[in-house]
Amino acid sequence: GFDVSKLLKQTGTVTFDPGFMNTAATTSAITYIDGDAGILRYRGYPIEQLAKHSSFLETSYLLIYGNLPTPAELDSFDQRIRRHTLLHEDLKGFFGGFPRDAHPMPVLSSAVSALSTFYQDSLDPFDEEQVELSTVRLMAKLPVIAAYAHKKSIGQPMLYPDNSMNLVENFMRLSFGLPAEPYELDPKLVKALDLLLILHADHEQNCSTSTVRLVGSSNANMFASISAGISALFGPLHGGANEAVLNMLRDIQSTGMAPEDFMEKVKNKEDGVKLMGFGHRVYKNYDPRAKIVKATAHEILADLGGNDELLDIAMRLEEKALADDYFIERKLYPNVDFYTGLIYKAMGFPEKMFTVLFAIGRLPGWIAQWREMMQDPQTKIGRPRQLYTGLPERNYPER
Ligand code: ACO
Repeated sequence: GFDVSKLLKQTGTVTFDPGFMNTAATTSAITYIDGDAGILRYRGYPIEQLAKHSSFLETSYLLIYGNLPTPAELDSFDQRIRRHTLLHEDLKGFFGGFPRDAHPMPVLSSAVSALSTFYQDSLDPFDEEQVELSTVRLMAKLPVIAAYAHKKSIGQPMLYPDNSMNLVENFMRLSFGLPAEPYELDPKLVKALDLLLILHADHEQNCSTSTVRLVGSSNANMFASISAGISALFGPLHGGANEAVLNMLRDIQSTGMAPEDFMEKVKNKEDGVKLMGFGHRVYKNYDPRAKIVKATAHEILADLGGNDELLDIAMRLEEKALADDYFIERKLYPNVDFYTGLIYKAMGFPEKMFTVLFAIGRLPGWIAQWREMMQDPQTKIGRPRQLYTGLPERNYPER
């Protein structure tokens, strides 16, 4: 209802770009996306090759430091992370302060924010050694915090990390292990989770990464910046979509609704219903990550004994959508979240943990982007402009 050109005249020359559809806020050498062609590369390497040959740890190194590590570099990165897995005991007390049914995402963002209070010796964004220490601390501690948030929500005791295990193995044990029982790692499960973490590891200037950069542009420390990114990821239009997809599939299953009828609701925009896990700001083609997850979903679910009925509903929805004019015209394809929830569920994670898993995966991307920004001489504090639509000047009433 506003005349934008008139508003622009009042403000002077600014770009009006809600949602930053066409605004590049930075240059970056980390991740390349061609949304029309469905291409995703980290530091030049196609996501398909990394998914096939790399590990989450190695991919994290690649994103943060720019190149694949030598075996010695990878080993040293791994060892440094293992040395920092312990949480300060007082930080563990923090988990008791939340209601038992707290969603683990705000627990995660709060605990990461609190890291600035416990680790005050690594807060200077321009001291290389401190940045390095914060990097390793976050990589080591975020999965532990995530597992503790999960344990807290199910009322089970928190185990100490076992540093004979790597980051992903440790996370599985801390999430599912019990004190009196030895925990047997299932290599298939570890491999499946490792793959999903690789696929989430970076995605250039998405909502949470842009948040990390915006907060960091004020020279806020890495913990504070990434805590804000975790809050941004919480939303159902971003990382929260994986949880929303599973809830949607469940609803369809429990009401016995035909996928076709659900699609009608979506197309008529009834009650604002969307096909969750579909559509993307940048991909106007099949999300290459979704392609990889879809290709492995059957295999993984067969191994893990997942819910095939929900997978069938998902595949029928996809099939209908890809042949439907509404979705074709709008170039809506499945995004990475469409199939991941089914796999997380089969691994034994409750829905509330899905976005937390996304956060663990995205962590190296946030770190890499934050570090790149701090090194970039072009960086300025992020401060968008606005077009003012409020009242003109008026006088305070004399009473
Ligand atoms: N179901 C139905 N219609 C959709 C969907 C969907 N999932 N996504 C977009 N549309 C429609 C919109 O209603 C709009 O239609 P209109 O032109 O008739 O108004 C058109 O497609 C364009 O969509 P926008 O919302 O303008 O696209 P935008 O780039 O702003 O949003 C987003 C992208 C937020 C991802 C959107 O597609 C969405 O809400 N998807 C569902 C949530 C989801 O899966 N999020 C995960 C994103 S990926 C990630 O974070 C890993």
